[in-house]
Amino acid sequence: DWTIENFIDMKVADIRQQVGDRNVLCALSGGVDSSVVAALIHKAIGKQLTCIFVDHGLLRKNEAEEVTATFQDDFDMNFIKIDAADRFLSKLENVTDPEQKRKIIGNEFIYVFDDEADKLSDMDFLAQGTLYTDVIESGTDTAQTIKSHHNVGGLPENMQFELIEPLNTLFKDEVRELGLQLGLPESIVWRQPFPGPGLGIRVLGEVTKEKLEIVRESDAILREEIAAAGLERDIWQYFTVLPDIRSVGVMGDARTYDYTIGIRAVTSIDGMTSDWARIPWDVLEKISTRIVNDVEHINRVVYDVTSKPPATIEWE
Ligand code: XMP
Repeated sequence: DWTIENFIDMKVADIRQQVGDRNVLCALSGGVDSSVVAALIHKAIGKQLTCIFVDHGLLRKNEAEEVTATFQDDFDMNFIKIDAADRFLSKLENVTDPEQKRKIIGNEFIYVFDDEADKLSDMDFLAQGTLYTDVIESGTDTAQTIKSHHNVGGLPENMQFELIEPLNTLFKDEVRELGLQLGLPESIVWRQPFPGPGLGIRVLGEVTKEKLEIVRESDAILREEIAAAGLERDIWQYFTVLPDIRSVGVMGDARTYDYTIGIRAVTSIDGMTSDWARIPWDVLEKISTRIVNDVEHINRVVYDVTSKPPATIEWE
């Protein structure tokens, strides 16, 4: 009968058989799927697995540290972290169009990964967190169809790897169960969906270091308060965005002219449609107060009350 324990035993045997004494490379994003793939393959072949984690500087507060602590320290994996924040930021200079930003971030991710993978000799396999739903959606041989859709972890076309996709019979809820069974922390297993281009599309318009800091700090406050209110599992996604507008405010006797933070929180089944989350007003009040008090250059907080459609979940 099908249990997670049996599944793990079976996959571990399969992976050992398939890989033999060769080596596997994995692009770790910190998302649920790539994290579970890494943990499963690591269980099967240990140090024959190498994970590359590209920190593009567009992650949420403490995220890179958490990924590093989990995989490098707790799991003791062969783990390579690349700090590419400056590289990404300079590529994004003066770019304001959302699709252009996506393209730049996606391409840069591949270049950085490619550069690093080139330095590693004798990598034969590439691990991918393809799920059953991805297989259905692509409708063709998954070995040919790399998920380029939305995901930053696309592949350089010239790379000669065999793909290894041990999650391609599983649904998301099974992947989470598997992750917990393999010892991954709840914060990774229950991580809310997060776009590959990260905070790069939550700073609307041009991305700068200062604006990234604003959106990162305000997002951290929002997450803290949602957790404190026990609402994490009830909301599909919740985050802050920094529109490229300033408005007038007043602080003490002085007039201010500063940025606005938008809060987006939605309920959804699959991200295709969504409704805005009815966060209790006292929780919103606390979030708003903390953001204007603690985050520099913010004098106004607004709550997004549009469903999808007609709005999208992200603002860009
Ligand atoms: P939208 O904004 O289109 O988002 O309603 C639907 C879901 O997709 C995520 N999203 C992305 N994920 N790269 C990603 O990996 C992207 O460029 C991207 N854009 C949106 C969004 O967070 C939501 O979960």
